[in-house]
Amino acid sequence: MFRTKTNGELRLSDAGTQVTLAGWVQRTRKFGGMTFVDLRDRYGITQLVFNEEYDAALCEQANRLGREFVIQVEGKVSERSNKNPNLPTGDIEIIVSRLTVLNESLTPPFTIEDESDGGDDLRMKYRYLDIRRNPVRRNLELRHKFAFEVRRYLDQQGFLEIETPILVNSTPEGARDFVVPSRMNPGQFYALPQSPQTLKQLCMVAGIDRYFQICKCFRDEDLRADRQPEFTQIDCEMSFVEQEDILQMFEGMSRHLFKTLLGIDIPTLPRMTWADAMKYYGSDKPDTRFGMEFVELKNHQPDNASRERVESLFPEGFTVFDSAAYIGAICCEGQAVLTRKQIDQLTDFVKRPQIGAKGLVYARVQEDGSVKSSVDKFYGAETLEALRDKMQAKAGDLILILSGEDAMKVRKQLCELRLEMGSRMGLRAKDKFSCLWVIDFPMYEWSDEEQRLMAMHHPFTSPKPEDIPLLDTDPASVRANAYDMVINGVEVGGGSIRIHDAKLQQKIFEILGFTPEQAQLKFGFLMNAFKFGAPPHGGLAYGLDRFVSLFAGLDSIRDCIAFPKNNSGRDVMLDAPGELDPSQLEELQLQVNLRQD
Ligand code: AMO
Repeated sequence: MFRTKTNGELRLSDAGTQVTLAGWVQRTRKFGGMTFVDLRDRYGITQLVFNEEYDAALCEQANRLGREFVIQVEGKVSERSNKNPNLPTGDIEIIVSRLTVLNESLTPPFTIEDESDGGDDLRMKYRYLDIRRNPVRRNLELRHKFAFEVRRYLDQQGFLEIETPILVNSTPEGARDFVVPSRMNPGQFYALPQSPQTLKQLCMVAGIDRYFQICKCFRDEDLRADRQPEFTQIDCEMSFVEQEDILQMFEGMSRHLFKTLLGIDIPTLPRMTWADAMKYYGSDKPDTRFGMEFVELKNHQPDNASRERVESLFPEGFTVFDSAAYIGAICCEGQAVLTRKQIDQLTDFVKRPQIGAKGLVYARVQEDGSVKSSVDKFYGAETLEALRDKMQAKAGDLILILSGEDAMKVRKQLCELRLEMGSRMGLRAKDKFSCLWVIDFPMYEWSDEEQRLMAMHHPFTSPKPEDIPLLDTDPASVRANAYDMVINGVEVGGGSIRIHDAKLQQKIFEILGFTPEQAQLKFGFLMNAFKFGAPPHGGLAYGLDRFVSLFAGLDSIRDCIAFPKNNSGRDVMLDAPGELDPSQLEELQLQVNLRQD
């Protein structure tokens, strides 16, 4: 036997027993005639002791061990005189009687400790060493347990896990596809699935009734902290359901995951319409760990998010506000203490190109209730007090105001400012969770790039029945039976009730700009299937990586993925993507012509 115990399990009650252990040398220390070695494996660290007095040759062997050598030892468990309360095995040590070096190691390029000295790139290049570190390994353990509990819950609810193919067809809409050339069909390409959306719908036509799959999805899009080109979905679909059934089922799954993995009982998830999320938080994934909702001080551009016109609280006088179509504000409790310099920093923050505000107006509520603002010279005390009352601001509060031509743009800027203030005020603790459903998404959003309406979720999402007549007259205002689950400002999952009627599906394709021929070419397989008795159905998909990273309190989903890609979509360990051998290109009948600009 290579080992009789792991390095995490020996306790004082084992003292006196003979054991064989194996693992990696974390570190060696020499004190006089004694050598101490910390032996590490997945389960923990055990201290080994070698005593020159008892066995000089063995001690000499131990002194030659380098970091990350793989060794096997035999020895006796003994009570430690100098106990380490920080280690579960800290009460004991092993008096070693035999040492075998199983493999030597080069000196690792960074320290394999909880706090490593390795930068991001280096750790990714040697990810197999990084995974030896506790924090990374713990994230992978959590991910395993998470997926296990998902399977347990869904199995109990009668879901079948069904695998769908990875080599599929390119579909329009959504992100860009990753494509794979077909050797046997020259000039033709498979695409990797962006999600198994149409296949799971076909499973419903096939009578599977409750499907799920923990599957890889591939999207060639710009990467961010919460996006990877290949990521994992918990993809689910159900037949004979309405939106309410789906929300209940998956709220149940989230409750199960919070309880079993974090020991947290989450309250019933509140539901917020997309319109309210945009109006009060400027985002379809509001972080509801804290309040600070927007107050509209002027809105002359009522849109889908805010249907009524709001007259300006401010009389004419300040051209920026006079010419704005929208003015919105947040009230930051107790923040009137911010210095001028700190407010200038906030102004610079909102003026960064990524946010794009033109400026920031502020108003402090003084101890006596009077208001001092950056626009004092334009407005009298009465207006500023009306502002204070409208914002329900108290003495010591700070009101921050943004304005502009385009209500949606200003809301998004105000959203960034709100999140920044929430962070500065310590209102976004990672161990505090606030979950909700955002419902009633619009069916379509306007794409400036494509100059047409695009499906906000995907083209298979059904409109709200009461909005179907609007498809002909005002498609932009049609709401969908679509929903997202949002936790702490992260969209962890989303889905919809699907169209199961071939004619309605055809109409939706038309609105999206597909001719009947194009729709038949791209989606004929689905529309034909719908002609054979498609049941009403709907579902959703969670981003497993995002869900796990929230549970683990991570800033990036990369940290819970064993072998992630970097921000340029590269795997720096495998050095992928790479060039193909000319013979491979020839076999595929492909030519590579790189533009030199
Ligand atoms: P959607 O495109 O909203 O829906 O994706 C579902 C969930 O997957 C996660 N996600 C990602 N995670 C990491 N990296 C990415 N690049 C990435 N893109 C998406 C998000 C998101 O909520 N077929 C539909 C689902 C359905 O309608 O049932 C779909 O894929 O957490």
